[in-house]
Amino acid sequence: MNAFKQFADKVDNLFVEHEKVTEIYEHLDALPTQQRSRHSFILGGGGVGKSQMAKNYLKKYPGHTIVDDEGTEVDIRPVVYLETPHPFTWKELYYAILKSLGVSRIAGNVGDLKERVLYLLRRQQVKKIIFDEIHSVLTSTAVSNRAVMEHLKHISNETNVSLILIGTSAAKQLRDLDDQYKTRFRVKYLRRFEECDHSFCHFLKLIEDQLSLPFPLGLANMDTGFPELLHYQSKGKVGFLIPIIQEAFRQKGIHNEDFNDFEKAKISISDLDRAYRIVVGDEETEESFEEDEIFIKTI
Ligand SMILES: Nc1ncnc2c1ncn2[C@@H]1O[C@H](COP(=O)(O)OP(=O)(O)O)[C@@H](O)[C@H]1O
Ligand SMILES: [Mg+2]
Repeated sequence: MNAFKQFADKVDNLFVEHEKVTEIYEHLDALPTQQRSRHSFILGGGGVGKSQMAKNYLKKYPGHTIVDDEGTEVDIRPVVYLETPHPFTWKELYYAILKSLGVSRIAGNVGDLKERVLYLLRRQQVKKIIFDEIHSVLTSTAVSNRAVMEHLKHISNETNVSLILIGTSAAKQLRDLDDQYKTRFRVKYLRRFEECDHSFCHFLKLIEDQLSLPFPLGLANMDTGFPELLHYQSKGKVGFLIPIIQEAFRQKGIHNEDFNDFEKAKISISDLDRAYRIVVGDEETEESFEEDEIFIKTI
């Protein structure tokens, strides 16, 4: 792959392990050692990078294959990731867990599926299950919130896995259902960059470092106007920031066959303005940048 194609790939695959993310990784790493509270809620508004953070965590623990006493190969998976099914049913939950364990849909009633899930969680030595989009439980009607929580606790008691529940801040209601959950589940927030401050600029610098262009763009340099503009455009949410930057580069033609000069990839304030209008559109309002709130369901 030539250097220009490589650069386009870097732009497409930007993932920056910034300090808010590393703090959560350290928290997740430590969970199994905390016997009494080895579960966690990771909460934050839409577009702050929760799912990307979780998927990247999964990559850090890819697992390996062993051969058991009977000569069968077993995929050891220390961490698994799944999206909480919506609408939530027990069957869909088990299918989602099975899929995360590399098992396709098998026939069986709920009891059979549950047995299979518990067996495989032990056999594949799963230590942590990440349930993304856990807030979707709040708007599912087939099963009560408490029943879901009790059930997840049961899975954990049977297999010793840590539960990592990721969702919007509304999902904290699930923890508030019972004092016991409050002891067992810690809470961590992944927040947007609230201010255009040192921490936001550091994030921009990590982006620029990752792109490693042969000249400075100045993304993190206050004198260029980039940090202020990007913070204004994204409201400090990586879910807006990264697509805006990607679009600005796309407009510069970095994905074209004939892209062969890094100077042409030099983005300006007006490039970002254009990219912002394309990515965010015209309908974006202040409200939709607010932290996701709130659907209350009676329990
Ligand atoms: N740490 C990160 N570094 C770079 N880009 C990120 C990062 N986290 C998220 N993104 C970008 O933001 C988008 C939205 O992130 P996502 O994880 O889906 O947010 P959430 O799950 O909180 O709604 C991703 O598609 C990706 O483009
Ligand atoms: Mg998400």
